[in-house]
Order: sequence, then C-alpha cells, then structure tokens
Amino acid sequence: MEKIVSLCKRRGFIYPGSEIYGGLANTYDYGPMGTELLRNIKNLWWKYFVQKRSDMVGLDASLISHHKIWEASGHVAGFADAMIDCKNCKARMRADHLIENFIETNADVIARSTTIVGDEAISKKILSAVSKSKVEGLSVEELSLLVEKLKIPCPNCEKRNWTPVRKFNLLFPVQLGIVEGEGGMGYLRGETAQGIFINFRNVVDSTRVRLPFGIAQMGKSFRNEITPGNSVFRTIEFEQGEIEYFFDPDNASWNELFEKWKNTMWDFVTRELRVMATNLRWRVHTNEERSFYSERTEDLEYKFPFGFKELWGLAYRTNYDLTQHMNISKKDLTITDPHTGKKILPHVIEPAVGINRLLLMVLVDAYTEEEKRVVLKLHPRIAPYKVAVFPLLANKENLVEKAKEIYDDLKEHFMVVLDDRGNIGKRYLAQDEIGTPWCVTVDFDSLEDDMVTVRDRNTTQQERVPIKNLSNYFHNKLDS
Ligand code: GAP
Repeated sequence: MEKIVSLCKRRGFIYPGSEIYGGLANTYDYGPMGTELLRNIKNLWWKYFVQKRSDMVGLDASLISHHKIWEASGHVAGFADAMIDCKNCKARMRADHLIENFIETNADVIARSTTIVGDEAISKKILSAVSKSKVEGLSVEELSLLVEKLKIPCPNCEKRNWTPVRKFNLLFPVQLGIVEGEGGMGYLRGETAQGIFINFRNVVDSTRVRLPFGIAQMGKSFRNEITPGNSVFRTIEFEQGEIEYFFDPDNASWNELFEKWKNTMWDFVTRELRVMATNLRWRVHTNEERSFYSERTEDLEYKFPFGFKELWGLAYRTNYDLTQHMNISKKDLTITDPHTGKKILPHVIEPAVGINRLLLMVLVDAYTEEEKRVVLKLHPRIAPYKVAVFPLLANKENLVEKAKEIYDDLKEHFMVVLDDRGNIGKRYLAQDEIGTPWCVTVDFDSLEDDMVTVRDRNTTQQERVPIKNLSNYFHNKLDS
C-alpha cells in the first residue's frame, strides 16, 4: 500500500488534502493523472449503467438538502459510528475497527473472550461477534465491555486507558442563510440515494419510465468519518454511484432481480474495469449488521493490501424510504398501474458504489513490479493517457516538429501527451508508471518513411506503424 500511495503522489494521481497547511485528515486531492482516471471510471460507469440501458435514467440532485429528508430517512437518529478515545494520547477511532483489527491480529482472542462474564445473552452475542470478527450490531455498552475484557491496547500509544464507547453522527449539518435554528438548517448529503427517493415523483411525472426502472445518480456524498490511512478508501468527502431500481413486488421477484444485479456488478468490475476475479468475493451481511428494513444485503469485496473490504453494496431496501418520505412529506409517492389502476409504492434494489474505491481498486489491481520497472497495467479504456508521443532526440528540430504534428492530430481523438524530457528509456519508465498503454517514437527513419515505432506497455514489444494509420490503429486497439 505504501508503494502505491507513494507512486500516486510522485506521479500526480492523489495528493493529501490541504497539504501545504499541514493536511486535513481523511481528505485527498486528485492530481492530473488521478483526475483523468477518475473521470474515465465515472464515464464508463455512466455509459454502462445509464447510456446502454433502456430501463435507466439519470439524476443530479443538490448536495445540500432539507433537514427533513435526513430525519425521514433515519440518518439523523441512526447514522452514527461508535467512537472511542484514548485518554492517554487523545487518539480517536472507530470502536468497531479497533476491536475487529485486534481480533484479526490476535488469534488467541477467541479463547480469551470466553472469560467474558455477565449476562448470558450478552455474552453469547459478543462471542458470536468475536468468532466472526464482525462487531456490527453490538451496542455501545457491549463494545465498551469487549474493549475492556479483551484488554485492547491503543494502537497509537499502547496504553489501555479508554473512554466509554459512544455514538457519533456522521452527517455534516450546514447553517443556511440568516435563519437561525432548525428552519435554517440543512445537511450535506450523506448518500446520493435520498436525492433519488425525494425526486421519485418528479421523475415519474416528467419522463416515460415504466416499472421496473432505475434512477442512477453519481456525485459527492459527505460523512464525518474518523478513520486512519488507506488513502482514498474511506474519506469524509467521496463520490458515489448509486442506483435505485424500482419494481412492483407483485410483478417481479426481488430475489431474481437481486441475482441479476449481482451479475451486472460483477460483470462491470471484471469485464469493463478488467479487475482480476480472484481478487473479488461476495459477503452476505449478517442479521446484526443488516438494516432493519433490508431483506437482504451483500457486499462485493475486493482484496485490498489491507484485506478484503467492501467495494460495492447491494441491498434490497423494500419500500422503506418511499414510505418514510410519503408519511413525513404527506405527498403521494405512489404510482398507478396504467392497466389495472392499482396504486403501487415500488420496492427497490440498490447497488451503491464508491467511485474513489473503484479508483483505488484499479490502481492496486494494475500495480505490477517487474525486474526493471514498475508498471500500472490499467485497462487502456481507463488509463489517464492513451498515447505518449516522443521525438527520439529533443534537440533535433525536425524530429520535434514531426512529433508535435502527430500529437496535434491524435489529441483530437484521445488524451495524449508529448514528452521530450530525458532519454527514451526514462520516458518509457515514466509512462509505464502512469499506465500509458502505447508510446510512439519519431526517429530519423520516420522523416523518410512516414512511419513511427509504437511500443506496447504490457509486452514492451515494438512495431512500425504508418503515421497516417495511427488514429485508426489506436481506435481499433481501444475497441478490442
Ligand atoms: N445508499 C447506501 C449507501 O450509501 P454505503 O454502504 O454506506 O451505502 C455505498 O455506501 C458505497 O459507498 C460503499 O460500498 C463504498 O464503496 C462507498 N463509501 C461509503 N462510505 C465511503 C467513504 N467514507 N469513503 C469512500 N467511499 C465510501
């Protein structure tokens, strides 16, 4: 992970946020390479899930939203992490992460935890959580008990001097205008999903959608997360790609739709992003961690260097959200079946992914160390630059001129870079590290035969290609 983080900084993918002022925890900025990569992933997601499907439409809702949305959705009351503070070094962390990491790295902990005494039902619940390394669903009292009984030390200072575990709401409130108090209060959205639910009526009334159909949204969400490290895996500001797929439960089987969505998500990751299937797995949420309104939730997990972690969640949320918004806003959110006249409050299947996690995953998956080079074997479709154009020598005017002509032509079609720094070997290494799939070199022969050398990033093999065929040549490669 350290190597990837260092490459990301060195080559302009990801920088720590607010760096020149000492940094701001859990924020990151995307450099020129990261911006292109992020944009390519977003475009691919949109094309796959919206453009290429006749049953999907898009939405772009406001980031700042009415406080009642988040009261209705349950976020104001329940969207909270259990936090714990070390009284000695003042480090603040998520209690679930502290305990789960401790369990994972201390094999004898399960044996030790049998000594937890007290109420039998609580003890049973705690033991079951420990054996699964998943403490979601435990109360703050139960988490405090675990920290105490397992004698968990602070990962920062190694002392055992903890505050009790307590809840910390993740929503960012914003005070709007000059109205004081609740009336002027909004929230930065904690998920893009709510924007979809509250616009459900608008979309149905203003478009020709028919059940089953999906509304997709991609954009920033905000959560006051307190988590250490792991680059852009978990940040306070992040990009989500969410779909609410609405259906009438009397006319469609949610189980079948759920399976279909599982296949679609898998297909996107393995075929569109070309991530290795061996690094992916499904994990079914336990009863304790699943939201009370969800009938089934599964996570598609990726094997990051810090373990298998959630990449993409898939949940059957029933019609919980529409019901809540209908009850609290007092607006009718049902739709009428045009054939039977039946009023329907649709149910939803929700695939929800973090685009920044997709980005981190493709970087991890593509990072390859070979004997003489580090190469990012990104799929050409998402690589920041598709082609780098080099004049063999930077001080030969006619070579530079020809290279510039090729660059000017190709940049109409693809993201291309012109590079004349250092020697050819160094230029190849630099392009390999940012994942540029093809390098074009203009040499002295090019001035005679109007052909250039194209070098393939993965194989390092080279072939001569006529300059006039270059853009077709790359188009064909990108389409294959
Ligand atoms: N609407 C459902 C929802 O938001 P979630 O599991 O909280 O569900 C969905 O989030 C996805 O968003 C996650 O699978 C993850 O990829 C991404 N995500 C969530 N919190 C994140 C954070 N703090 N930083 C980066 N990505 C995050």
